[in-house]
Amino acid sequence: MAKTAELIIDGKTYKLPIIEGTEHEVAIDIGNLRDESGVVTLDLGYKNTGATKSAITFLDGDKGILRYRGYAIEELAANSNFLEVAYLLVFGELPTDEQYKKFTDDIKLHTMVHEDTRKILDGFPSSAHPMGVLASMFCAQTAFYPESLDPNRSSEATYLSIVRSLAKMPTFAAWAYKNAVGHPVNYPDNSLDYCSRFMKMLYALPAEQYQPDPVVADALDKLLILHADHEQNCSTSTVRIVGSSKASIYSSISAGINALWGPLHGGANQEVILMLEQIKKDGGDTDKWIAKAKDKNSGFRLMGFGHRVYKNFDPRAKIIKKAADDVLKKLGVNDPVLDIAMKLEEVALRDSYFIERKLYPNVDFYSGIIYRALGIPVDMFTVMFAMGRLPGWIAQWKELRENKEPIGRPRQIYTGQNLRPYVPIKKR
Ligand code: MLT
Repeated sequence: MAKTAELIIDGKTYKLPIIEGTEHEVAIDIGNLRDESGVVTLDLGYKNTGATKSAITFLDGDKGILRYRGYAIEELAANSNFLEVAYLLVFGELPTDEQYKKFTDDIKLHTMVHEDTRKILDGFPSSAHPMGVLASMFCAQTAFYPESLDPNRSSEATYLSIVRSLAKMPTFAAWAYKNAVGHPVNYPDNSLDYCSRFMKMLYALPAEQYQPDPVVADALDKLLILHADHEQNCSTSTVRIVGSSKASIYSSISAGINALWGPLHGGANQEVILMLEQIKKDGGDTDKWIAKAKDKNSGFRLMGFGHRVYKNFDPRAKIIKKAADDVLKKLGVNDPVLDIAMKLEEVALRDSYFIERKLYPNVDFYSGIIYRALGIPVDMFTVMFAMGRLPGWIAQWKELRENKEPIGRPRQIYTGQNLRPYVPIKKR
């Protein structure tokens, strides 16, 4: 028999259906509650609200579990690569040899961007943050591919938009940075893998001198896999809500990029490095800053520690910590800022204050360290996150369209003035 929950309001009982997911997550379906009782639910930040049913990513914050389409993140990070994971997220299954070849060949075919895009890029001053430029470049694709304005056109058209988005992302991302430093752009080299192609376009010296480094490419690829999806986080929810209005895939992705930009979401890894630089500038005394972090009145908060959904540990951080150690060792990086990071990490992992409060280093902490060690500029950290998150946004946008979800339209509890008469300006 179907389970129900009972809610009593003013002595009247309402029966609410209970929905159970494949991992036994339980939700109370309040979809008809307003029609039946006139009452809405209130949940600021939607922290306890399931906004959709999704078959893409499973996350258990208490147990530190993250799975894409049923595959453990640990297994994917150890054995797969970013484009294979992108295929898995978007199409639901790991690709066969043939499917993988077609998918990656199709991506290579579309890495170039329309040359007129450069005119749009040239319009940005070099003070423009690369995230704003990236969001604009994505949105501009609706002009180059106007057929994308109808997201229900055909599955072939959707496939092409998906491939174009994944193919052009490294080009847009690198160009957004080139604009910020005032350098000429480099064009995509399709003989390289996804991450090396991006690094070559980002390269400061003439691109011909670029030597791909497998250690760098592997570390980046792993980071992209770890960031590829994270169920209904802020940017993904944004992509879904924008997509629910039947907006094109490019404008939905552009909205996701804007949501990711904020320091509370994708900008967190950038904040980690800024904090470490501040500590170094102050003399590098980590004990002093640890004491400040413990003092509620200091106003200082350690960036990159703890997580809003993982209550015990961030499974992505466990994987990436090892990659960070390997990268630092292999590249022989000698950087006082990264030494401070290592000291903070050590203290946080053994100090009972941090252990009791579950303030363990999270994925943003280690990704910031790796990006810095790889020589990726701080302003590009959030762009790297966007590059990783792209397959997740695409998969969630596609799922929403395929499930024919209704337009997103939350309710509110109004707390403003009651009806009052208009007073002409001279009488106020
Ligand atoms: C993410 O990966 O999106 C972040 O960890 C934030 C979140 O999930 O809320």
